Amino acid sequence: MTIPDPVNDDSQPATDTPSAERLTRRSIRSFVVRNGRTTSAQTDALQRLLPQFGLTYSDNPISLHTAFNREAPVWMEIGFGNGDVLVNMGTNNPEANILGAEVHESGIGHALIGVEQNALTNVRLVQHDAMEILENMLEPASLDKVLLLFPDPWHKKRHHKRRIVQQDFLDAVARTLKPGGILHCATDWAEYGEWMIERLEKDSRFKNCAGPSQGSPRPEWRPVTRFEKRGHRLGHDVIDLLYTRL
Ligand SMILES: C[S@@+](CC[C@H](N)C(=O)[O-])C[C@H]1O[C@@H](n2cnc3c(N)ncnc32)[C@H](O)[C@@H]1O
Repeated sequence: MTIPDPVNDDSQPATDTPSAERLTRRSIRSFVVRNGRTTSAQTDALQRLLPQFGLTYSDNPISLHTAFNREAPVWMEIGFGNGDVLVNMGTNNPEANILGAEVHESGIGHALIGVEQNALTNVRLVQHDAMEILENMLEPASLDKVLLLFPDPWHKKRHHKRRIVQQDFLDAVARTLKPGGILHCATDWAEYGEWMIERLEKDSRFKNCAGPSQGSPRPEWRPVTRFEKRGHRLGHDVIDLLYTRL
């Protein structure tokens, strides 16, 4: 049985137009907005809970202290998908403020259901391009961790320019991570792992926590993700890459 690849499968209808424009002004996007189905429970959660847990994208830096109603270390998850990891991290790390960025409405709705079921107060979500959030909405040195778990691999060569791990991304993460903060990337696409290593190893602002070009064991605070399980089913090896911001 072929498991559909939701991003790189050209046979699926894509709406890369009006709503995508609402989510970013960048011409090259690491995401495609698809006509995914939003369940009635997700729609209900979006209506009831987004005013409480959602942050509106801003072109100017916001106060994370105000957004979370408290001062605490901030972990940002980029492209949280259905939000299971976000909710798990919020539940298991009450001392951290968890900021999630995702563009897909159904995933945000699903995450909000989890936030409510677990009575979380330490999670905030932004429905917008994470690149613009990193570049514009966050203060310099405001994040303690940035998690990029199983980003779309854009495996066709002509799509490599859509990979999120590019120079602009490293610049934006270097700007927003505190010194000593962690950038944590994971992928099950071996060639994308090599791509990440190649770019991160030559960036003097980051140091590999496991030694040059090495993967790290999955930290216990990083749960297994939905896309990771899919990778396992396909027989893919997973690599976790942890880098400290110097
Ligand atoms: C392959 S999925 C992985 C989801 C989840 N991290 C997991 O491991 O199950 C990648 C997700 O990243 C989101 N994404 C891609 N580029 C993004 C961006 N620039 N800003 C926010 N979300 C993005 C996509 O919408 C998609 O849901």
